[in-house]
Amino acid sequence: MTVLVTGGAGFIGSNFIFYWMERHPEDRIVCLDKLTYAGNLFTLESVMEKPGFRFVKGDVCDRDTVCELFRTEQPEYVLHFAAESHVDRSIDGPDVFLRTNLFGTAVLLDACREFGVGRYHQVSTDEVYGDLPLDRPDLFFTEDTPLHTSSPYSASKAAADLLVQSYVRTYGIPATISRCSNNYGPYQFPEKFIPLMIINALNDKLLPVYGDGLNVRDWLYVEDHCRAIEMILRNGRVGEVYNVGGHNEKQNLDVVKLILAGLDKPEGLIQYVADRKGHDRRYAIDPEKIHRELGWLPETKFEDGMKRTVLWYLDHQGWWRDIVSGEYKEYYARVYGEV
Ligand code: NAD
Ligand code: TYD
Repeated sequence: MTVLVTGGAGFIGSNFIFYWMERHPEDRIVCLDKLTYAGNLFTLESVMEKPGFRFVKGDVCDRDTVCELFRTEQPEYVLHFAAESHVDRSIDGPDVFLRTNLFGTAVLLDACREFGVGRYHQVSTDEVYGDLPLDRPDLFFTEDTPLHTSSPYSASKAAADLLVQSYVRTYGIPATISRCSNNYGPYQFPEKFIPLMIINALNDKLLPVYGDGLNVRDWLYVEDHCRAIEMILRNGRVGEVYNVGGHNEKQNLDVVKLILAGLDKPEGLIQYVADRKGHDRRYAIDPEKIHRELGWLPETKFEDGMKRTVLWYLDHQGWWRDIVSGEYKEYYARVYGEV
């Protein structure tokens, strides 16, 4: 069976490729990735030469490339991870988010329509639900929570989800959608909260905490997300949305303190900086549906996952030092100024 993975040179897509190839060595994996700033071929180094793996550099928005790939590879499963994924960048410039996240999804769905597919899976986010107040710990996102987006990133993801649902209904595309909470783990791009804090702490640089640091995210180890996606692919019901998250809510400040303690660095490195525009207060997933229907539960405890993640960044300094010494420097200066 051939599995097409878009965005496989990024954080979650690459982890998914490793996850799948380890468990299903008989399958062929084709990865389509544009290699934007967030895509990194070094991440895929260990699988590049494997006979069951093919990497194609290309844009999901390019109909010719996508159609040619479907024609030649005839994928049974299509997993759509490729996206512009960073909220701060979407605030800086929404255009590319709309193009990649919405139009790219449309191109893939059209290819599924033209060539047929066993299952199309849309990797979405809990951010499509907007946020929850800090003083209502009893509230969680369910699959019935109305879409209520805050950033151009989340708006583009919500628009893509609606498009997927329209293709299920109108054209009978066998698609499913997962809406996952914040992931962490190996190969996450240094602009994201957890790697950024680990890398700055390792470099004895200040750790820029937005606003009061009390915002809450529901963290999930990336491998648990990969397993959820496999369960949805195998047994999820077509047309359905599945929320993925493990009741692991943490305040940003507590995560930063955990990282500093793990690296034996002083809390004096914490620096409060201007808040993100439209900053979502709290994300919290109710994973009851995926648990009840598919038996999914997270397996990695936050403390263990964080230890593994910190160790990974310690052991793979070449991977991230290459990134942070390149164009990322300009991005960092633009967003964080002197920090
Ligand atoms: P990432 O930014 O690390 O990787 C994105 C990948 O997509 C990169 O390899 C990039 O080169 C590729 N890409 C971007 N534009 C492309 C295009 N036009 N054509 C082909 N490839 C393109 O992102 P991530 O954190 O791995 O997220 C993957 C998916 O999971 C995204 O759809 C995101 O919305 C979703 N998601 C992420 C999280 C999280 O915490 N990171 C949580 C829930 C959902
Ligand atoms: P991020 O990794 O960008 O994910 P999200 O899509 O959930 O915003 O950020 C996670 C949280 O960390 C979010 O509340 C914003 C905060 N944050 C900081 O405080 N400082 C930073 O430098 C970054 C990148 C994020």
